[in-house]
Amino acid sequence: METSKPEYYEVFGDFHGVLMDKRFTKYWEDVETFSARPDDLLIVTYPKSGSTWISEIVDMIYKEGDVEKCKEDAIFNRIPDLECRNEDLINGIKQLKEKESPRIVKTHLPAKLLPASFWEKNCKIIYLCRNAKDVVVSYYYFFLIMKNYPNPKSFSEFVEKFMEGQVPYGSWYDHVKSWWQKSKNSRVLFMFYEDMKEDIRREVVKLIEFLERDPSAELVDRIIQHTSFQEMKNNPCTNYSMLPEIMIDLKVSPFMRKGIVGDWKNHFPEALRERFEEHYQQQMKDCPVKFRAEL
Ligand code: A3P
Repeated sequence: METSKPEYYEVFGDFHGVLMDKRFTKYWEDVETFSARPDDLLIVTYPKSGSTWISEIVDMIYKEGDVEKCKEDAIFNRIPDLECRNEDLINGIKQLKEKESPRIVKTHLPAKLLPASFWEKNCKIIYLCRNAKDVVVSYYYFFLIMKNYPNPKSFSEFVEKFMEGQVPYGSWYDHVKSWWQKSKNSRVLFMFYEDMKEDIRREVVKLIEFLERDPSAELVDRIIQHTSFQEMKNNPCTNYSMLPEIMIDLKVSPFMRKGIVGDWKNHFPEALRERFEEHYQQQMKDCPVKFRAEL
């Protein structure tokens, strides 16, 4: 029985209508005034949508398929998380300021909270999304392993919170819709986790072309091999085992958990699935983005 975990609203609080980790918003001025560089590449996801996967792929593209270079440090040091802040343990802004160009920046922010300089500098942006039911399952396990996150009372209670937008980074629905609007800009590439699962070669080529590099068969092969679920699960630089133990408990569940489409089927009781889908239709009725929850 876990007793040392904090209460929900001790950790999270409303920030401009978005539930956020209070440690991340405590020094918000640093985030808001962040100075993007024109050659920064921004990777945006709602949590648990495959950000680690796509980050590793993009880093492999930047490093021209050099696996050894990608194994020089943990993914969260190679591609810092912009807003991530935990007093002295992690400071995304500081990490980014110290990085040489071209930088790859990760964020989970909804479009309205993104620092203005990314738009002013016309940076390229990759937005990766994943179907809501698999996100909620993955997020539930993430709550269990993060030592400074409260434990959900049950899966159903967590799903209710998710539907209300009462999870960090707020409403998944608003997040997807806000970034879909932005993807009308050709500097923004909108991608789906399910497409990557369906045909990784096609999606890797798409990414390489978006980054204006040569998608040689050799490079694509190397990327696919190095970023497979099993490789990343066994790689300390991508499986989060390099995160301080004070932050994460990988004995409860691995970070690289299943990596599949449709795990929601093992978690949603029928009545909850129905409720979720009805609510989903309401939330997404004006949004043309269609997600696949099975392949
Ligand atoms: P599951 O919990 O469903 O397994 P993020 O990196 O945004 O936190 O997303 C984590 C999710 O992406 C986890 O989902 C994880 O297993 C999955 N993932 C990470 N790397 C992957 C890969 N190479 N292939 C497929 N899924 C991957």
